[in-house]
Amino acid sequence: MERLQKVIANSGYCSRRKAEELILEGKVFVNGSVIRELGTKVSHDDEIEVDGLSIKKDHNYEYYLLYKPRGVVTTTNDDKGRKTVVDLIDTTARIYPVGRLDYDTTGVLLLTNDGVFANGLMHPANEIDKVYIAKVEGILSGYDVKRLKSGIMIDGRKTAKCHVKVRSVDKKKNTCIVELVIHEGRNHQVKKMIEAVGKKVIKLKRERFGIFDLSGLKASEYRRLTAKEVHVVYSMIKK
Ligand code: URA
Repeated sequence: MERLQKVIANSGYCSRRKAEELILEGKVFVNGSVIRELGTKVSHDDEIEVDGLSIKKDHNYEYYLLYKPRGVVTTTNDDKGRKTVVDLIDTTARIYPVGRLDYDTTGVLLLTNDGVFANGLMHPANEIDKVYIAKVEGILSGYDVKRLKSGIMIDGRKTAKCHVKVRSVDKKKNTCIVELVIHEGRNHQVKKMIEAVGKKVIKLKRERFGIFDLSGLKASEYRRLTAKEVHVVYSMIKK
């Protein structure tokens, strides 16, 4: 038997202090009944629910941050036999990527076997920022930037407002480097946005996804997320 707040915290859902708050707020149910007492002990067989979500005890969840290189597909299995992002990670767990980066896109990619974590990060309501750096053929005008920022039609639907900044311009080569911060995750979104203003992305890198960036990693390298990072994500997606 273990204390309820400890079991919740150990599941990776939130910190022990936060678990205590949730119990006091009446958001924690054990076997269908609300529990408001902090000292309550639970056993392995008890069903625990927090805010309507079932807590997995002693789970085998794994969380990775991969610096995705170019030339790798973001799936668990490729029918053309190409290398996948999962092949780059040394684990026997059935992990999968959180969202998608194109074959030729590099940068931050999370992988996990925790569905609540993955779905929470991808759910549009949580508006997780993604920072992309695009090398563009052609030079974006001030007007292009304004259109991109305020939302532009792609696939018959306007994109949400976003941040766009031209970081540098190479007049000789007729290229520029653009930073875009978007929270949507539509298919080939950055490439399509740039195409919508008549230019072309020639290189694309995701520098940041929520709180995660590429610090300390080279292309193809990965690391495990810390328990603290997992807690932070849970606190961001449980609004
Ligand atoms: N937008 C794209 O066009 N491609 C990606 O891989 C990610 C965002």
